[in-house]
Amino acid sequence: MQAQRKIGEVILDLRNISLAFGGVKALTDISFDVREHEIRAIIGPNGAGKSSMLNVINGVYRPQQGEIVYRGQHRKDMNTYAAAKSGIARTFQNIALFKGMSVLDNIMTGRNLKIQTNFLLQALYWGPAQREELAHRRKVEEIIDFLEIQHIRKTPVSRLPYGLQKRVELGRALAAEPEILLLDEPMAGMNVEEKQDMCRFILDVNDQFGTTIVLIEHDMGVVMDISDRVVVLDYGRKIGDGTPEEVRSNQDVINAYLGVAH
Ligand SMILES: Nc1ncnc2c1ncn2[C@@H]1O[C@H](COP(=O)(O)OP(=O)(O)OP(=O)(O)O)[C@@H](O)[C@H]1O
Ligand SMILES: [Mg+2]
Repeated sequence: MQAQRKIGEVILDLRNISLAFGGVKALTDISFDVREHEIRAIIGPNGAGKSSMLNVINGVYRPQQGEIVYRGQHRKDMNTYAAAKSGIARTFQNIALFKGMSVLDNIMTGRNLKIQTNFLLQALYWGPAQREELAHRRKVEEIIDFLEIQHIRKTPVSRLPYGLQKRVELGRALAAEPEILLLDEPMAGMNVEEKQDMCRFILDVNDQFGTTIVLIEHDMGVVMDISDRVVVLDYGRKIGDGTPEEVRSNQDVINAYLGVAH
């Protein structure tokens, strides 16, 4: 299923990244790269540093050491604004949505960086602002159709079951039309059917929009099924990196992670 997709050049290269919180070494000398259009998984036991790695990529955390090369640009660290502006969007391990707001309005917040017209102009020239607003709404409606959530578009997020909230969060990230989508355990806590739906959406995003995906996931069936390459972390160190088959037969990975049931 993944074979027809054209995986491109390296677009994101993490080099020797180290990150510590006081005495806790969350990441130690981690290097790996992400190629355009691929689905790259990050796996490993609890506390291995997976979420910290995503936080480094989108500038929430600043690594003490290392370098991030994104689209050929070398940086010591990212910041969240620059990351978002340059096409990196993400979802969070704990859902980050405005619970009292509707599905539609939550997804609309994902367009924030794309909104050109400023407040004053909106007040002075109703015309252009209105045109822009309509264009954003159209895009959001496209995402709502794509994620098959038309029936809940006006529903406050707090009233939705967990699985659908996760889907709305994906929608919010997609609204930014990202080049790279970082997904932190998008299927955690879901039942089998919800997981299947989420898998299908991730594959469709990758396939139809060409979006590069970096995915943290504990469900090994899902990881082995949908990812092109997998990086394995354990206690903040990289212990494996390769295709799902390579990682599955790596003895260090089996000892640290795959040996236990997931
Ligand atoms: N903001 C922080 N302050 C202090 N320590 C932190 C912070 N964020 C992460 N850590 C620590 O860094 C280590 C890695 O945490 P991280 O959340 O990245 O792991 P993870 O692989 O995502 O785990 P899980 O599978 O449980 O989500 C842990 O020891 C964690 O306690
Ligand atoms: Mg985590």
